[in-house]
Amino acid sequence: MSTNLGAGRPPRRIIVGVGAGIAVYKVPAVVRHFVKAGDSVRVMPTEASLNFVGKATWQALSGAPAHTGVFDEEAGVDHVEAARGADLIVIAPATADLIARIHAGLAGDLLTTTVLASTAPVLLVPAMHTAMWNNPATKHNVEQLRARGIHILEPVSGDLSSGDKGAGRMPEPEAIWQRAEEILAAGQNGPVRDLEGVKAFVTAGGTREPIDPVRFVGNHSSGRQGAAIAQALVERGAEVTLFSANVDDRLIPAGVRVVETPSALQMHQAVLEAAPEHDMGFFVAAVADFRPAKTATKKVKKSAANEDGWSLEMVRNPDILAETAKAFPGLLCVGFAAETGSDEEILEFGRAKARSKGAKYIAINRVGGGLGFGTLDNQVVVVDGEGNEVLSTSGSKLEVARAIVALASGHSETQNR
Ligand code: CTP
Repeated sequence: MSTNLGAGRPPRRIIVGVGAGIAVYKVPAVVRHFVKAGDSVRVMPTEASLNFVGKATWQALSGAPAHTGVFDEEAGVDHVEAARGADLIVIAPATADLIARIHAGLAGDLLTTTVLASTAPVLLVPAMHTAMWNNPATKHNVEQLRARGIHILEPVSGDLSSGDKGAGRMPEPEAIWQRAEEILAAGQNGPVRDLEGVKAFVTAGGTREPIDPVRFVGNHSSGRQGAAIAQALVERGAEVTLFSANVDDRLIPAGVRVVETPSALQMHQAVLEAAPEHDMGFFVAAVADFRPAKTATKKVKKSAANEDGWSLEMVRNPDILAETAKAFPGLLCVGFAAETGSDEEILEFGRAKARSKGAKYIAINRVGGGLGFGTLDNQVVVVDGEGNEVLSTSGSKLEVARAIVALASGHSETQNR
């Protein structure tokens, strides 16, 4: 799939830096995406990467010379001009060595010199063996580069060329150019508005299950991630309804229609009624799995309960996501899950939830325990119903929301091909 975003605008100048990793085989598709979109592409391979794909391929695909060194041409390659003119530098695969060199500000070849001389946004797409990705040196370099404003499209887990399994695999070309388009759009005309005419709803917040007129069983969910999803949808032009379970109004972005659904049953009814008119549903709310079997119409007095304690009988709430996905197969459903455990366990929980609930995607929020980038608000892995890890992203809740909405909107573009 290559969206033709080129219509009616001048060509963008894209530099594609290529590192020496086996994942190079995915990069020609990225180059082709930009060429087809009418952009001017220059490929800058590292010398070592030519062991995987040669200059002739890059030149044929991009229609421009693919130099590796500053002195490849007699008069010298004008890296300053290339750097100054670029709208975006995409580096894929970014090996541990290349990341370290960029982090250190080295300029030993044309690519690193260009990165150093450029103020254009840079998208790094790391790919390497899990052990190298998890090495503290690489982690440190990536963290520092991120702090300098360099965009990182994180590797996903899966089969590695070594025969091992783990994090380090480069995302598919679609994910790379989608992220690149996001960055370009954010720097130029604001976000891509590819969801105009699309109706989406979001469930957000934490439900409160009434015990009596003054008490409830609830949870700590603030609704911030749901509100961020709503904002990311609005930015792309969608018409958005937010089913709010006790979300503070101040968190809700402008342009979103709000329906108050404080309890699971109220949310259940409202969502099922609204679902047929929608194209996408994001189930971000922390819905109580159980509610008090009876809601007292009057405040329960101490005297009515046993002096030593009070047992509350709870009954199961409907699973709003599972029921909605089943009743409306045409609706693109994205679920959320906060999980704890090892990487493998987390993914397995997510896969099981995607399957059992019938969601197209489940975004799994890693919570607790030794996370790599402790200062970031959120770390999310997205799996699809077939159990594939399709996105791994981290950042503020809004950054994470934008990445998830971009993924879902990419799907909405391609599903009818
Ligand atoms: N969900 C829902 N209705 C429920 C429970 C959950 O719509 N009654 C949705 C949530 O909004 C979320 C997804 O299902 O998108 C996963 O929620 P989660 O609480 O992680 O899953 P549970 O099914 O409750 O499983 P468990 O608590 O056992 O992990």
